[in-house]
Amino acid sequence: MNNGKSPVYARVTGTGGYLPGYPVSNFDLVARGIDTSDEWIVERTGICSRHFAAEGETSGVMAKIAAERALAMAELDPALLDLIIVATSTPDFVFPSTACLLQGALGNHGATAFDVQAVCSGFVYAFAVADKFMRSGTHKKALVVGSDAFSNILDWQDRGTCVLFGDGAGAVVLEAAEAPGVLSSVLRADGSQSGILSVPGQVRCGKVWGDPFLRMEGQAVFRNAVRVLASVAEECCQAAGIKSHEIDWLIPHQANIRIIDATSRKMGLAREKVIITVDRHGNTSAASVPLALDEAVRDGRIERGQRVLAEGVGGGFTWGAVLFEF
Ligand code: UT7
Repeated sequence: MNNGKSPVYARVTGTGGYLPGYPVSNFDLVARGIDTSDEWIVERTGICSRHFAAEGETSGVMAKIAAERALAMAELDPALLDLIIVATSTPDFVFPSTACLLQGALGNHGATAFDVQAVCSGFVYAFAVADKFMRSGTHKKALVVGSDAFSNILDWQDRGTCVLFGDGAGAVVLEAAEAPGVLSSVLRADGSQSGILSVPGQVRCGKVWGDPFLRMEGQAVFRNAVRVLASVAEECCQAAGIKSHEIDWLIPHQANIRIIDATSRKMGLAREKVIITVDRHGNTSAASVPLALDEAVRDGRIERGQRVLAEGVGGGFTWGAVLFEF
């Protein structure tokens, strides 16, 4: 335990990402027979293309590739990890958890390993949970992954949802450090809104009961997302004693460019301070934030010492934010 002697921060020492296959454009979706258009998708969402996993390319398989890239950047042997958290709503199996599958695939033994299910807020939830483990002093080297293969739960007859999502995985390695690190985090949920975004099916007695596809009341999700994202950012900054315009980078969940723009406008942040991947990734659910983080770290936009605010919002209804110094 830390015993309160010196502050312990969870510091990002590596990031990694993985997008399967090749970009699938809006025109490709039209060519596949979906009753939509590039114009509609770009205008309403900002999405131009997304990636889809191949058969057998599960959330666990994608998580391993992203994790290995993050571990390589951190120059950390996976055997030394003592905490592995995977955020996913599309786990490989009912059980064991995707985190345990990943642990086995990485050759780690004995680390605490579990999944977090908070849909598109999953990575932010997992990041905050890992921070709390590390602040308590019990864990020192954590791997946090967001991985989702939503193409498996999309109804291709439902043009209101199937054009929005893509597959992928993103990962961070967190190591205990005396310098920040994570500065603050806020996690929220409202179960009374569970019906607006769900996959309302279940596996029971050898059968799928209910509806195994993603269902969404788009406008209700849109309204809720815009309402909560700016306020949770404010709350998270306040907890760290800074103003929201003092952050260097905002990494919002990548669902819709209009939601991202409305959030940054409310926060008084210029577009140049916002990391955007939704145009090329679509909505990759739990993978969206760590994929965007990895891209901006690798292309040199996010630099050591800068303040980054990561935000998630999604089914549950869930939302949250983590503020950290990179
Ligand atoms: O991680 C969180 C996950 N989800 C989200 O963040 C999604 C939040 N919601 C949204 O982004 C938006 O609500 C959507 C992009 C899903 C929909 O945009 P909208 O402006 O709310 O459109 P709408 O659902 O009100 O539909 C408008 C029209 C309808 O036609 P009519 O009734 O006006 O004739 C739809 O049938 O657009 C039609 N439409 C489409 N047309 C072409 C719906 N989907 C499509 C499509 N292509 N793919």
